[in-house]
Amino acid sequence: MYTDLKGKVAVVTGGSKGIGHAIAERFGREGMHVIINYHSDPEGAANAVKAVTDNGGQAIAVQADISTEAGAQKLLTTAVDNFGGLDVWVNNAGMEIKSPTHELSLADWNKVTAVDQTGVFLGSRIALAYFKAQGKPGNIINLSSVHEKIPWPTFASYAAAKGSVKLFTQTIAMEYAKDNIRVNAIGPGAINTPINAAKFSDKAQYDKTVSMIPMNRIGTPAEVAAGAAWLASAESSYVTGITLFVDGGMTLYPAFKDGQG
Ligand code: BGC
Repeated sequence: MYTDLKGKVAVVTGGSKGIGHAIAERFGREGMHVIINYHSDPEGAANAVKAVTDNGGQAIAVQADISTEAGAQKLLTTAVDNFGGLDVWVNNAGMEIKSPTHELSLADWNKVTAVDQTGVFLGSRIALAYFKAQGKPGNIINLSSVHEKIPWPTFASYAAAKGSVKLFTQTIAMEYAKDNIRVNAIGPGAINTPINAAKFSDKAQYDKTVSMIPMNRIGTPAEVAAGAAWLASAESSYVTGITLFVDGGMTLYPAFKDGQG
């Protein structure tokens, strides 16, 4: 638990399921006030609100498309109107589409880019503008992926967006460090979330993924949320511009694990 987080206000995009839900829940346990954004799953968002309030926090679910300026504005306005401000903005919403790249439609490329890349820009921009206007410290956390580092054939749009999130995070971390605004990314590996549900229900695919993880297991959303709580808290007060990989070692070139090469 991080006592400085109590009463702080956070926006979590894509908070209706998976890692977003877990971050909202963890923030609730920290006694934070959380705006839980969702796109098309009001029931999931209601569950996340309950998870926050059951654990001692406060929460409001807000439908918004974070790939639009109006969506980002709606989240900020709800935070300020209901909870009196903003301290932490988590750009978590994300999606992936599998396709051989030579067959990837422009529509699908644009869909992934709109959420995974433009959404991070719009969320960060509105949070930065708010923090600057208030002259207060601020904290932004972008959910990247191990695929900001590891190329991922048949997921080119996703890997390209996550690579972009990495340099975007580093760039704005540098640009706003003097304003006491910290910006960091989290790079989850293979986590037990709805985005992976179909893949992991296939035993062969599940085993294959586990074999690519030095720690030999899939991660939990709560383990990623623990990283978010630390980055949001003053315990990481001198940390900006990093990607915190929460991946069981997936980014350590596991193909070399027995001394091959
Ligand atoms: C993706 C997952 C994938 C994991 C490891 C994540 O960014 O969302 O689908 O299992 O990376 O490859």
